[in-house]
Amino acid sequence: ERKCQLSGLWRNEQDSLMEISALTDDGGFQGEYLTRVTLAGGCPRVSPLKGAQQQPSEVASPTFAFTVRWDVFSNATTTFAGQCFVEASGREVLSTTWLLREAVGSLEEDWKATRVGRNIFTRKRAPGG
Ligand code: BTN
Repeated sequence: ERKCQLSGLWRNEQDSLMEISALTDDGGFQGEYLTRVTLAGGCPRVSPLKGAQQQPSEVASPTFAFTVRWDVFSNATTTFAGQCFVEASGREVLSTTWLLREAVGSLEEDWKATRVGRNIFTRKRAPGG
């Protein structure tokens, strides 16, 4: 059974792109995220991400989580949690659920500040490929 590798270039169903670097020994990783959609409809910029994979070397379908800092164009933040799978065809898939926290002006607006959704990523290019 082939293990799912997080590092490399990925694309989701919204056409956003994400590149994840090589993982450190303790499962940490960094990368870059280019979203195709934005809350304000403005021009997105490449944004840094940081995360961690669980049980880095042991499992075939590891779980992971990462945070994207959109701060170059937005004061919102997003966390993704998901799992990496290798399909029977050999295609790798990241199934994720995200929380998008928008900055609101006051605690009275807190109730509307968080969105939740799902993204499926498929591999666009292998690490180093
Ligand atoms: C913003 O517009 O203020 C930040 C960008 C948010 C993009 C969201 S994060 C969840 C979803 N998945 C994507 O690839 N893009 C959107």
